[in-house]
Amino acid sequence: MTDQYQLFSKTPIGKFVIKNLGLPTPLGLERFESPTPVIKGAVLFGAAKVTALSNTVLEILNAIRANTYFQQADLDSSAEKIGLHSTLLSENSQTTKFKALVFDASGIETSADLHQLYAFFHPVARQVQSSGRVIVLAKSPESCSNVAHAVAQRALVGFIKSVGKEFKKGITAQVVYVDENAEKNLESSLRFLLSARSSYVSGQVIRVSKAEVVSVDWSLPLAGKTAVVTGASRGIGEAIAQVLARDGAHVICLDVPAQQADLERVAAHIHGSVLALDITAENAGAEIQKAAATHGGLDVLVHNAGITRDKTLAKMTPEWWDLVININLTAAERINQYLLENKGFNAQGRIVCVSSISGIAGNLGQTNYATSKAAVIGLVQFTAPKLKNGITINAVAPGFIETQMTAAIPFAIREAGRRMNSMSQGGLPVDVAETIAWFASTASSGLNGNVVRVCGQSLLGA
Ligand SMILES: NC(=O)c1ccc[n+]([C@@H]2O[C@H](COP(=O)([O-])OP(=O)(O)OC[C@H]3O[C@@H](n4cnc5c(N)ncnc54)[C@H](O)[C@@H]3O)[C@@H](O)[C@H]2O)c1
Repeated sequence: MTDQYQLFSKTPIGKFVIKNLGLPTPLGLERFESPTPVIKGAVLFGAAKVTALSNTVLEILNAIRANTYFQQADLDSSAEKIGLHSTLLSENSQTTKFKALVFDASGIETSADLHQLYAFFHPVARQVQSSGRVIVLAKSPESCSNVAHAVAQRALVGFIKSVGKEFKKGITAQVVYVDENAEKNLESSLRFLLSARSSYVSGQVIRVSKAEVVSVDWSLPLAGKTAVVTGASRGIGEAIAQVLARDGAHVICLDVPAQQADLERVAAHIHGSVLALDITAENAGAEIQKAAATHGGLDVLVHNAGITRDKTLAKMTPEWWDLVININLTAAERINQYLLENKGFNAQGRIVCVSSISGIAGNLGQTNYATSKAAVIGLVQFTAPKLKNGITINAVAPGFIETQMTAAIPFAIREAGRRMNSMSQGGLPVDVAETIAWFASTASSGLNGNVVRVCGQSLLGA
């Protein structure tokens, strides 16, 4: 649905009114156009201490041919050793504009060391371009050997969430906690977060764990893979199917039989196939396994199908309660259980669930929906440690996304939902789809048990 306010904000009269009333200006966000370059513009990289993690970042910046700058001579010489073309920033240089600021904060070991955040970011805080990226890499607090180090690493969340709110201009900010010896699993996440694929993801805490390193063709990270997307006939599901196909997967588009015509349209567009099936059917897991078997078995399963039936609890009928829980939660649980117990996934399989910000913050009139979506987070959290054979499970939690679901919300609530985030606008289905594609990537073996919000850093439940 068109965001009329955003269109108005681009007109001369709109600019005048918005400026004088102090209203938020929603800037057009840059979105993915092509796999190269990963990032268009200069990257300033710094480190509290040069660590193994810093060296991995240098290798990744080299692999993506980033136009890299440093403030520190020690990083410059490390970069030279691996052949990374870089520039040492002269002191007080205020002319260079950066598309990304990346800081390895893992060497911050005490509260006094936190000053290094200030020292790196303060001088360049006004030099980040629109749709820019701020990424702090950190050591998982649980893996720190003493309390002071863990506390200092935990502090980074508050820093990054504030930067996300301050920098504006569509600039995103995240912390990536990297587990002990998991540096080599960082690349898919750093590429995603630096790129225009992550435009509506901000203020997030991501954890990278140690796992088998799986190399991919970065321009087609799902080449040769088979994906099933539920609820694929429209909205977010349609965008997921398109993005996974763009990344090289054969996509089996699943939706209820009543959606057959739209399902066929979506599948034909991406050379995928169709599975008309109600996910609450007893045999849904077996049907998915059968459909994927004809394409080499299942590599990626995206549990996107979902419904809302909103009423306050006092007015909620038992049928509406049960329907929402059954479709949004029980069906996904049952399908996962069937597939995991019956060798339904290939090695390095990926399960990606779609939760919602309502499952994190709760929402008036959505006790049934929020219960189901909070449970989806639980499904990810408690399934992740049990998975074997390189299989992972993660979830996205969309905020306000422009779809038929949100178009049905009354005007005033819809406008509030759209604006109450650091981007001052709703996200697009493609923003959710890109985040799912990052989790689904064969290279994302180190992401397991994450829940990442695609909400433009919504104020709700933050
Ligand atoms: N739109 C948003 O702002 C938003 C925000 C947070 C979360 N979400 C979640 O994202 C997902 C997609 O949302 P959307 O906005 O694209 O919704 P949508 O209503 O446009 O699409 C949902 C799809 O799921 C299908 N579906 C429903 N029940 C099914 C069943 N039993 N079996 C198979 N398919 C079934 C529908 O036919 C439909 O095609 C949902 O899980 C939703 O809860 C959406």
